[in-house]
Amino acid sequence: MTAPVALRRAQPGDLAAIMPIEAASFHRPWREQTFASLLDRPDKDVLVATLDGTVVGYAVLTAQAGDAELANLAVDPGHRRRGISTALLRRCLKILQDRGERWVFLAVRASNDAAFGLYQAFGFDEIGRHAGYYRNPTEDAVIFGLEVDRAHPR
Ligand SMILES: CC(C)(COP(=O)(O)OP(=O)(O)OC[C@H]1O[C@@H](n2cnc3c(N)ncnc32)[C@H](O)[C@@H]1OP(=O)(O)O)[C@@H](O)C(=O)NCCC(=O)NCCS
Repeated sequence: MTAPVALRRAQPGDLAAIMPIEAASFHRPWREQTFASLLDRPDKDVLVATLDGTVVGYAVLTAQAGDAELANLAVDPGHRRRGISTALLRRCLKILQDRGERWVFLAVRASNDAAFGLYQAFGFDEIGRHAGYYRNPTEDAVIFGLEVDRAHPR
């Protein structure tokens, strides 16, 4: 029987598991050094989701110009559509709520239907676009925002 998803802060030893998920998830993946530089910073949160001790997803919360930003979120392709990012996002919102943050923002490729479905299910609204922001392939960034206290319960 598979244990339910567990969530914890990422440690340096998790990077080896995070990097293949990152490579499988994005056209322009973050470098390992970028993740490493965010660990153990009180103003950043790198969370991992594990199943039976194996890292299957992660989320990164940062701040951009004073606003909370969900800077990265990905789940291993073999473990998608099982509620793992829902669990990660729920925990991120709890962290932000406990910290007294009012809003959280994120940017996503305009063609990313899975992410649109996920964020809209939590109550994120599209608040803007950056035309041609992404490269390889060129595509608009859609900016989503959510008032933390008004997140839809999931
Ligand atoms: C987007 C992503 C993080 C979703 O992770 P996940 O663990 O599969 O998501 P969940 O199982 O928690 O799904 C939650 C909701 O999101 C929506 N959703 C998730 N995958 C979807 C898909 N392929 N198509 C449409 N809606 C989808 C649904 O509303 C879903 O609820 P439901 O299953 O009850 O219908 C995952 O597909 C992924 O890692 N994609 C590549 C990286 C990425 O795009 N990250 C987000 C941009 S930063």
